[in-house]
Amino acid sequence: MGRAGSPPRPGGGAAGRDPEGPRGKVSAGTGKGMVLSQVDTVNLPSIQRAMQAVGNHLKDQGLTLLINNAGISSHATLCSLDSQEMLDVFATNVVGTLQEFLPLLEQAAKGEGKEGLSCSRAAVINISSKLGSIGLCLHVPQAPMYPYRASKAAQNMVTRCLAAELQDKGILCVAIHPGWVKTDMGTQEAPLTVEHSVRGILTVLASLSQDTSGAFLDWEGNSLPW
Ligand SMILES: NC(=O)c1ccc[n+]([C@@H]2O[C@H](COP(=O)([O-])OP(=O)(O)OC[C@H]3O[C@@H](n4cnc5c(N)ncnc54)[C@H](OP(=O)(O)O)[C@@H]3O)[C@@H](O)[C@H]2O)c1
Repeated sequence: MGRAGSPPRPGGGAAGRDPEGPRGKVSAGTGKGMVLSQVDTVNLPSIQRAMQAVGNHLKDQGLTLLINNAGISSHATLCSLDSQEMLDVFATNVVGTLQEFLPLLEQAAKGEGKEGLSCSRAAVINISSKLGSIGLCLHVPQAPMYPYRASKAAQNMVTRCLAAELQDKGILCVAIHPGWVKTDMGTQEAPLTVEHSVRGILTVLASLSQDTSGAFLDWEGNSLPW
């Protein structure tokens, strides 16, 4: 879960603010046919350029899998909260890249012989967080993190709406909590390594179908309350 937001696989793509930087290259891997695009998810022209680059790379195949991984955290409490911080966190964590990439996903979904919903047809995976669960919030009194929690709850609602709206177009949408992971955001105190979390997420992605579109799952495939 570094700067590059898609899983490393030949013929795939990854995008981040600094894809050619050391963390971007490590995250994206060195698979043959990988396309690395620069994207800042709060900058529309950069999203449009990345979409063009991905579209040119994939030609008429369309985009099978869009993983929205970029996220920022905020530890603001009720007392320390300011509105600009709230808006900045929402801009990154909620608005995302979907609108621009939708035509490429629709193109993939229309591919010959493709039926039902799955990650091998067309899918949007929003990397969410358990901290955005309203249902679990009463049981997690620590870490107020108002902007982060509110933004992830909003991202979850976006995922749910997308799943309902895009299912007839053959596009699956889910929200996935990656676990508490050793990253800059998760810190080295986290119990899970990036590799462990990513392996779990890839297994979950392979199992997704019509029945799980619109779900909120963790990296082990457990269902989480919204
Ligand atoms: N780590 C955890 O325990 C945990 C738990 C639950 C959910 N999550 C979620 O998992 C996702 C990844 O988090 P992480 O743990 O890898 O956090 P991280 O170590 O802080 O990395 C965040 C990533 O998002 C990128 N990013 C932030 N703003 C961006 C923007 N405007 N445009 C493009 N990229 C941007 C960062 O790019 P730069 O490197 O360029 O800054 C960085 O690669 C997030 O959505 C987070 O909410 C993480």
